[in-house]
Amino acid sequence: MKKENIVILGIESSCDDTSAAVLRDGVLLSNVTAGQAVHEAYGGVVPELASRAHQQNIVPVVDQALKQAGVSKEELSAVAFTRGPGLMGSLLVGVSFAKGLACSLGIPMIEVNHLQGHVLAHFIKENETDTDQPEYPFLCLLVSGGNSQIILVKAYNDMEVLGQTIDDAAGEAIDKCSKVMGLGYPGGPVIDRLARQGNPEAYTFAKPNIEGYDYSFSGLKTSFLYSLRDWLQEDPDFIEHHKADLAASLERTIVDILMKKLRKAAKDRHIRQVAVAGGVSANNGLRNAFREHADKYGWKIFIPKFGYTTDNAAMIAITGYYKYLDNEFCTMDQPAYSRVTLR
Ligand code: KG4
Repeated sequence: MKKENIVILGIESSCDDTSAAVLRDGVLLSNVTAGQAVHEAYGGVVPELASRAHQQNIVPVVDQALKQAGVSKEELSAVAFTRGPGLMGSLLVGVSFAKGLACSLGIPMIEVNHLQGHVLAHFIKENETDTDQPEYPFLCLLVSGGNSQIILVKAYNDMEVLGQTIDDAAGEAIDKCSKVMGLGYPGGPVIDRLARQGNPEAYTFAKPNIEGYDYSFSGLKTSFLYSLRDWLQEDPDFIEHHKADLAASLERTIVDILMKKLRKAAKDRHIRQVAVAGGVSANNGLRNAFREHADKYGWKIFIPKFGYTTDNAAMIAITGYYKYLDNEFCTMDQPAYSRVTLR
């Protein structure tokens, strides 16, 4: 099979973003994403509404991605798609579309693990000269609405999860605390914005004390909730008066929890190349903590561009490209899976 002029179409539909991307020989040509504002009114993603929106969005999004790339569908070498983990109804839209398109064009299909895609977002090249990429092995902190993991990345297809959350994910904790404060959904960007104006030392919330590299965020969430309940009894407008300090203190606590275990993993494994990925990696407090660790511990850090932190098809396309080079194709009968780990 030819290994030049490889054009991959990537499709991502695991949650509430419908995204399609095209890349040629590993270089990104387009990355189009349609978000779903419909969930805002409900304070979280409503699975049934998400799959309906994917149904409406998938054709125009793929069409746009091909047009922006200047590529016709006949030029595609393969279709890569997110097989899981994610919401089953959402995944099915992307998986079925990818299968139908690949079948009609007579080209191979490549299934991609969404989590692997997040990690490999660091290898997305926007042009030929884009060479600032991690070298194997490196550590990746994967933090999103559904995951908080420390991953030892030994190769594009060899990842070891050193630690992960035993309850809530970091993004989930941020979203739930933000909801309690009445800040809407998703909470991450709002907390981030408010935190920039607040005092991170204003309040103290519970931090977990568990062994190894695992995380826990449920205690922090409860501590935030109970503290707020007490403060609101004394001042019913407490949140309004102190929301920037609350956001900054919450963010600092979460960043401290994340960085402590990551530092331990880097030290124990003697690794100095450290990356961050997933929706929460858009957080400015976390990005600053990475920069401070680079200065203090000599880490070479990799922080993705904002567009590649949340769910996107560029990361699925680049993973698909590496799998294409290794002839890692899949068959028609492979279903979507809602739950799967990297290992
Ligand atoms: O990776 P992602 O888009 O979706 C999955 O969970 O797969 O991550 C979404 C999470 C949400 O919890 C959202 O609140 C959080 O990422 N997030 C942020 C920021 N932007 C998004 N958290 C903190 N600061 C941000 N700037």
